[in-house]
Amino acid sequence: MTLRAIGSASATIANLGPGFDVLGLCLEGPRDRVTVELTDDGRVEIVQIEGDGGKLPLDAAQNCAGVAARWVIERFAEPGTGARIWLEKGLPLGSGLGSSSASSVAAAVATAALVDPNIPRGVLLEACREGERLAAGSPHADNVAPALFGGLVAVLPGEGEAVDILPLAVPRDLVLAVAKPAYDVRTADARAALPKTMPIHDAVHNMAMIAGLVTGFATNDMGLVARCLGDRMSTPYRKALVPGFDAVVAAAHGAGAVGAGLAGSGPTIFAITDDRETARDVAEAMVDAFLGAGFESQAFVSAVGLEGATAELERG
Ligand code: HSE
Repeated sequence: MTLRAIGSASATIANLGPGFDVLGLCLEGPRDRVTVELTDDGRVEIVQIEGDGGKLPLDAAQNCAGVAARWVIERFAEPGTGARIWLEKGLPLGSGLGSSSASSVAAAVATAALVDPNIPRGVLLEACREGERLAAGSPHADNVAPALFGGLVAVLPGEGEAVDILPLAVPRDLVLAVAKPAYDVRTADARAALPKTMPIHDAVHNMAMIAGLVTGFATNDMGLVARCLGDRMSTPYRKALVPGFDAVVAAAHGAGAVGAGLAGSGPTIFAITDDRETARDVAEAMVDAFLGAGFESQAFVSAVGLEGATAELERG
């Protein structure tokens, strides 16, 4: 009988307006699923990838799910342990919704479920960040942390590259509308578009926005949230990579969203609402606005994913 673990991790919205590389929010879906089976041949192997249109590498050393699984095995499994991995992509690639993060996180929790279920999630975070380093060229944690822990989190810097994750309060009835245009932006390219230095008044603006945004979420003050989604740190430099951005954000506001912005490094645009019906109207308005700018898009509506990543064992 073979024992397998199935890890599941969902889409996330990093930055959330002003919180570049700091704030991240977990959605309920869509989700990536990673199935892992341990072997005794010492090899980490990706057997199959579904839902990526053939774009992701099967070489485990070049695939973030393979990297995260190997990280866990090298540190916690018996010497000589290997793994066979099946990856089902539910998230679109190059969307800014944390597609690589969802794969890394699902692989890390599935591998840990087989190797040692007691590995703390704070330790697994490091495995996921290595996946992110491979996929995006930087181990930023604002997608992997919310995918792993769920809810809204802040990434606090520690020693060197270490980080601590701070869970933040978020209203349970938030519903997000999300629209992904039919073009991709690579996170590495979107990061390369950022300047090395920024004007101090823009940094001051973003600090004030974060204080207001986090307070607005904690006190369910949507007026404050609406006022505090502005970003002068990354969005102004990335808008050129996201044709239609201004029109789509305006359309989201026009349809009743509390606020809207770039999801992670884009090109997906998120909008915050406090009920599902408004979120559906906003999603439709965003699709229409993208179309007006010359691009098809796909939209969905999701509540906040409070649970984070899951892993289940399966005997077959
Ligand atoms: N904080 C990262 C960035 C998230 O904006 O580059 C990438 O999705």
